[in-house]
Amino acid sequence: MTKPLRVGVAGIGTVGAALIAQVAAQRAQLTARCGRPIEIVAVCARSKAKNRGVDLKKMKWFADPVELAGDPNIDVFVELMGGSGDPAKTAVEFALASGKSVVTANKALLAKHGVKLAQLAEKSCVALNYEAAVGAAIPIIKTLREGLAGNSVDRIYGILNGTCNYILTRMEQEKLSFADCLKQAQQLGYAEADPAFDIEGHDTAQKLSLMASLAFGTKVDQSAIYVEGITSIDAADLAAADELGYRVKLLGVAVKTPQGIEQRVHPTMVRKDSAIAQVMGVTNAVTIDADGINPITLIGPGAGGAATASAVLSDIADVARGQTAPPFGRPSALLTSVRKAPMQRHEGGYYIRLMARDKPGTAASIATRLAEQEISLESIVQRHPKDGPSTDTAKGSVPVILITYATSEDGVRKALAAVGRDKVISGRPQVIRIEKN
Ligand code: HSE
Repeated sequence: MTKPLRVGVAGIGTVGAALIAQVAAQRAQLTARCGRPIEIVAVCARSKAKNRGVDLKKMKWFADPVELAGDPNIDVFVELMGGSGDPAKTAVEFALASGKSVVTANKALLAKHGVKLAQLAEKSCVALNYEAAVGAAIPIIKTLREGLAGNSVDRIYGILNGTCNYILTRMEQEKLSFADCLKQAQQLGYAEADPAFDIEGHDTAQKLSLMASLAFGTKVDQSAIYVEGITSIDAADLAAADELGYRVKLLGVAVKTPQGIEQRVHPTMVRKDSAIAQVMGVTNAVTIDADGINPITLIGPGAGGAATASAVLSDIADVARGQTAPPFGRPSALLTSVRKAPMQRHEGGYYIRLMARDKPGTAASIATRLAEQEISLESIVQRHPKDGPSTDTAKGSVPVILITYATSEDGVRKALAAVGRDKVISGRPQVIRIEKN
């Protein structure tokens, strides 16, 4: 029989255990598809005693992932430990330098060291595959790197964090508070160990940085991304969005503009009839606008053991077949530095919710400040408190919701600063960008 591909797995948590189970379950099919068997021959984890529900007896045990990475008896090093630092970084570097292909689900490592690791992989003529790092089971890396190799991508945007989408969905559907929904997401095991990483948008930003590199041929550069999370989103915004025909989603967006590549992560209003607006709960989705084709939207499970293991295994299968693509779609020497489009130059529609003083002249004053920045309004809604006169949360104030036509971020910021100085509103205005789709 043809020589099996020998795999070493570092990190046997939910994903590692699901991978071991899937390799066993799909053995015959994998052999047929790859032309050779795939065998997990060695593993490494912190505790040998822990019961993981999978049979590890025939696998060689390593306590040190770096030692496993250098083991001459493996062909592929699978890194499922996570984190941008050690031991993952040294182990991956060592594996690549010793001529082993690497498969990883580690978005943090790639977002920080992706280009250097790609250079190492190219030098050793081995693969560095990371399908599981973005959108888990959704084959977005292969779609960008291989499926659209002959297209120019204009824009890519997606729901890349299941925790945030779960929270926004629950807030919208069950009319629950942000804090309650976050607690539920944590109880269900969706959120990262530090939930700030999810809800403040950094998890999405790491994933976006990888997709942007593949889409635009640029070096992975997380620092070029403008990031806002979902912590300021209020149930009032979700209700208003619903009435206006929108939903609020945390999107990661990378788009070509005349000023350069705009990369941003923020709560976004999307039209309710768009494909991305249908995506609820922990599900992820990515839409790609490319030349000559209608937008492609991929939707699927973006987290979880089996979903992530499925992507890891497809990467291992590529190695078994001898398919090695440059990690970021072109040799790393041809990746360009990101020409970052400044966020102040962002153009688009805006949702603005203000608590306006309920006095004559307030609306005229707000309208004047917007007009000064040449901001044109698509709609303006003033809400009266349900019971009695204007004395709801902020004394003597009423919520006013504005939807603008496409305008510049800079103009909106300047207009709202002037409205604030005029003392016709209380509190901070809520601003949510609208994404055309
Ligand atoms: N915490 C991430 C999420 C897990 O909620 O999507 C997958 O990266």
